[in-house]
Order: sequence, then C-alpha cells, then structure tokens
Amino acid sequence: MDRAIPKHIAIIMDGNGRWAKKRLLPKKMGHKAGADALKKLLKKVEKTDIEHITVYAFSTENWKRDKQEVDDLMKLLKDYIGQYIKESEENNLIIDTIGDISVLSKDLQEDLAHLKELSSKNTGLKLHIALNYGGRDEIIRAIKKVAIDVKENNIEIDNITEDLFSSYLDTKEYQDPELIVRTSGELRTSNFLVWQSAYSEFYFSDKLWPDFTFEDLEKAINAYQKRERRFGGRLDG
Ligand code: IPE
Ligand code: IPE
Ligand code: MG
Repeated sequence: MDRAIPKHIAIIMDGNGRWAKKRLLPKKMGHKAGADALKKLLKKVEKTDIEHITVYAFSTENWKRDKQEVDDLMKLLKDYIGQYIKESEENNLIIDTIGDISVLSKDLQEDLAHLKELSSKNTGLKLHIALNYGGRDEIIRAIKKVAIDVKENNIEIDNITEDLFSSYLDTKEYQDPELIVRTSGELRTSNFLVWQSAYSEFYFSDKLWPDFTFEDLEKAINAYQKRERRFGGRLDG
C-alpha cells in the first residue's frame, strides 16, 4: 500500500543560473523565473494535503557570489515579499523564515516582519523560506542558546536530548520534512536542514528549478510513497 502524501516537503530550488545561461539571459532573469515557478507551484500545493513547504532561497554560502548577483537576489526578494504582502489574503499562505535574517538590510527585515505578521492570520499552507540559511550555522546558533541556558541554570546538561535540542532550532515549531527534493541534477544537500534531514527521503530531479512544475512534484511524491522507510528497524519484525 502506498503511504500517505508527506505533510512537510522541503525543496532545494537549484538551477536558475543554468536556466538563464541556456537562454543567453542575465542570471537575474533566471532567478526571476525561479521565483515565478515557486509562486505557480504553491497555488497547486495549496489544494493538496501538504501542510508545510520549506524552500531554500539563499544559503549562508551564497554570499560568495559576486556583488551584482547578491544585490539582484536581494532586490528580487524585496519585490516578491511586496507581492506576497499584497496577495496575502488571496493566497492564504502562512509565511515565516528560517536562517539568520539579522544580517539582511533593515528594510528587508521590516518587510519580512510585516509579511509574517499579516500572513499569520491566514489558515492555509505554511511556507518556510530559508534565507541566509545554513544547517551548520543553525546548529551553532542553537548550541550557543543551549550553552547560555546551561550557564544560567535554566537547563541541566543531563537533560539535553534530541527533542530538547530540536526545540532550539529555527524549525522548532513543526515536524522534520519527510521528503526533500533537489532540482538541477546536483546530488548533494549544500548545507540544507542538516539536523532535520536525518531520516528524510531524498528525490533528485534533473529539471532546472524554473522548469519544475506541480507534475514534477507529483512524481517526487509518487516516488516517496513507494519507498520503504525503516528508520533503522525491520519491517518484518
Ligand atoms: C539556485 O539557482 C538559486 C540560488 C542559489 C539563490 P543557482 O543560481 O544556484 O543556479 P545554478 O546552480 O547556477 O544553475
Ligand atoms: C543551494 O544551491 C542553495 C539554494 C538553492 C538557495 P547552490 O547552487 O548554492 O549549491 P551548490 O553551490 O551547488 O552546492
Ligand atoms: Mg546552484
């Protein structure tokens, strides 16, 4: 029997640069096409039983790119946050971010705060945007918070469990993704959800992100539904 569809799917949206290059377009057009592909996809995901979508939008390593590309990405982000604010009532998405957004411009941080506040009134799909996100960075930030709580006698070292540690992560409020999808044919996780992906199923698509559609996501879900998840145990006892 096929298992139920995943409640939480995380997506590494990769391949915008190659999509643009193939069309002899500037990279920023690839990123724009990628952002549009996400919007289109979300409209269809809204109608399914999927409850959470986490998307990797900008990694802690993406600052290594040239200034022009980073600036273009930040501008695009501002643009799309503005659109999501305008369309909040209509799209019914509940939006938040994971990652350290304290280094983003004040302007962008304010827009994000506004979007989070506004969309918290919605009732639909929960969209978690990974922004200046790195799994290792998230773990280090969590460790620092745990250390402070130990130092201030709020917790005891012996009480540090996997569950307790998870409650210090950016994703503390929801379950780990059952399925992680990466596009563009790259077979790595690039520092995405390092802790949370311990038992996630992975699905790799050769499609470049701007070409990825809901039908492609359905293929990933179908593949997931046929997987045997053992979590280290045995299904036959
Ligand atoms: C993913 O597309 C988007 C970001 C990392 C921001 P890329 O820009 O990495 O696309 P490729 O890998 O160069 O094709
Ligand atoms: C991962 O893609 C980050 C995002 C999709 C935001 P990258 O393109 O940055 O990853 P690498 O460099 O191929 O590992
Ligand atoms: Mg890439």
